[in-house]
Amino acid sequence: MGRLDGKVALISGGARGLGASHARRFVDEGASVVIGDILVEEGKALADELGAAAAFAELDVTDADSWARAVEQTTERFGTPTILVNNAGIQNGGLIGSFDLGEWDRIVAINLTGSFLGCRAVADPMIAAGNGGSIINTSSISGFLGSVGTHGYSATKFAIRGLTKSVAVELAPHNIRCNSIHPAQARTDMAAGIPEDFLQTPLGRAADPAEITNVVLFLASDESSYCTGAEYLVDGGLTSTVPYNLPTS
Ligand SMILES: NC(=O)c1ccc[n+]([C@@H]2O[C@H](COP(=O)([O-])OP(=O)(O)OC[C@H]3O[C@@H](n4cnc5c(N)ncnc54)[C@H](O)[C@@H]3O)[C@@H](O)[C@H]2O)c1
Repeated sequence: MGRLDGKVALISGGARGLGASHARRFVDEGASVVIGDILVEEGKALADELGAAAAFAELDVTDADSWARAVEQTTERFGTPTILVNNAGIQNGGLIGSFDLGEWDRIVAINLTGSFLGCRAVADPMIAAGNGGSIINTSSISGFLGSVGTHGYSATKFAIRGLTKSVAVELAPHNIRCNSIHPAQARTDMAAGIPEDFLQTPLGRAADPAEITNVVLFLASDESSYCTGAEYLVDGGLTSTVPYNLPTS
């Protein structure tokens, strides 16, 4: 028995990194999975690797029509999605006095508008199908904390918390749940080149993608049936303290 038997999942940004980790585990747990991404070659290769329970859909999360096509493709292939993981995201930076407006617009479009469009695209089909659902929005510890030069990233990751709660409240009568996850540093391309001790996380290391997927799997499954509108830190204890240099023994 898989923990996601009979579920149909659409994962944005599923071609690599955390999204690919979610896709692999979801298939292992019995779900049918559509990997949505702008990375066509990587996404198709992963879907091929995962076999008949997986498919690739070219998806640009900033584009409403692209979302409509991805939901349609998912429905035709496997049935109406019961799980949406809004995972696609980018990181960019710049000091506030010179933060590039185009980069601001780009990160808002992908991280925030992309998540909004994903929620919007699945809401009515999920309601109409009447099987409930689970939406998992990917925020970050940057949804709780600011840092130098990450204005667009922090602003969008904070906003995802608000989007998550409003969607959760509105869709609760249909048994469609919506929660956000808040990883610290995880070992993916996005964090490539950042030293593991950079964030001074109490657990003393970055996360393996599988450790983030464990929480996403819980939220995607019926095990989290009473959880909605909530924020799930997966941060190695980072937001429990402030960095300090006292000796530990
Ligand atoms: N890796 C970390 O340390 C970390 C920490 C906290 C939160 N996150 C969040 O987790 C999510 C996944 O990050 P990751 O580390 O796997 O990054 P990644 O860069 O490895 O993967 C991101 C994926 O999103 C896709 N993507 C980008 N723009 C897209 C678009 N317009 N349409 C569709 N897909 C698009 C990329 O092609 C890629 O496959 C992001 O939302 C990120 O902000 C990551």
